[in-house]
Amino acid sequence: MKQIPPLDLTRQYEQIRTAVETSVLDILQSGRYIGGAAVAEFEQQFADYTGTTHCIGCNSGTDALYLALRALEIGAGDEVITTPFTFFATAEVITRVGATPVFVDIDESFNLDLEQIEAAITPKTKAIMPVHLFGQPVDMTRLMAIAEAHNLAVIEDCAQATGAEWAGQKVGSIGHIGCFSFFPTKNLGACGDGGAVTTNDSAIAARVRMLKEHGMTDRYHHEAIGLNSRLDALQAAILTIKLRHLDAWNQGRDRVATRYQQLLRALPDVVLPQAPAGGTSAWNQYTIRLQERGGENLRDPQSGSLRARVRQYLQELGISSMVYYPIPLHLQTVYQQGSDRVGQFPRAERAAREVLSLPMFPELSLEEQQRIAAGLKDCLVASEVLAS
Ligand SMILES: Cc1ncc(COP(=O)(O)O)c(C=O)c1O
Repeated sequence: MKQIPPLDLTRQYEQIRTAVETSVLDILQSGRYIGGAAVAEFEQQFADYTGTTHCIGCNSGTDALYLALRALEIGAGDEVITTPFTFFATAEVITRVGATPVFVDIDESFNLDLEQIEAAITPKTKAIMPVHLFGQPVDMTRLMAIAEAHNLAVIEDCAQATGAEWAGQKVGSIGHIGCFSFFPTKNLGACGDGGAVTTNDSAIAARVRMLKEHGMTDRYHHEAIGLNSRLDALQAAILTIKLRHLDAWNQGRDRVATRYQQLLRALPDVVLPQAPAGGTSAWNQYTIRLQERGGENLRDPQSGSLRARVRQYLQELGISSMVYYPIPLHLQTVYQQGSDRVGQFPRAERAAREVLSLPMFPELSLEEQQRIAAGLKDCLVASEVLAS
């Protein structure tokens, strides 16, 4: 039986093969592999796409977040509010600059619960770092109002949400800084690592540019301890080509999400993700919840849960699914801080036990989605959740 992968980049590549191969060969023959016109062109086009005045390419989404914090001079003694239900990099960079990640629990959208932000603000809080998880935009209107009331900076982690919008504006253009990842699995993915910082603030942009090149102002004049974080010319050229397709691909993801909605609706114990009321999702993932009825031990999340059964069942049918993320960040060893934090963020902990990301990419066919839906229903029947 034909396998259904979580994401199939080979199908995407077929659509852009000629343009990419021509462009890559041009770069190879040009001898200009770092910086230059290809990078400048991508930065300009990505700034235009996101509706910002500045885009600075860098080596990864992780570096983009790190550079954003450094540009805002956030460091030792400072606190940054973020979500415990995200990829590790979000909190890792906060710790890496010497600051403390202060977690706030999530709501049913898997994003930060904005109701709980104000209670987490202290005199040490310098910024809020919302994550548009799985492509779903955070309610940026409310978040910016909270940030403004408390004079806090907002760094948007847009790694999974390139192209998503809130109230008609692209994510990454609403907060003070937007941080993007071009890791291959992202909506706009390179053929390797890549990232970018976006902002409408010229001073922040200049600082990011300086920091990403060893804190250099003029050649060999260093004003800060920075890093070497470059988006290389080959990746920039590939991203420029892919950017032209991004809206169509995101619309394709939206179609796939709508079809899942139709195929999977009204299944007991299955909660489907909802398209946001005030914006558009980039649907980097289509993440369902397989609800647990009894309490379960988070430290052994595979212990016969409905999620584990569904995952195994689908796997036997040749259908891959993924768990993003099995351990919330406050329960990662490095953030346990010697104390047992189990129970601190119950919604994030529950999500970690229940989430399952189904295959999601624009080229996923109706027939494949029907196979996935049939497999899921069969498993629910076998588990006596659904009557046969
Ligand atoms: C939410 C989030 N933030 C940050 C990152 C880091 O991006 P990169 O892998 O490009 O460093 C990722 C990537 O997986 C992510 O999903």
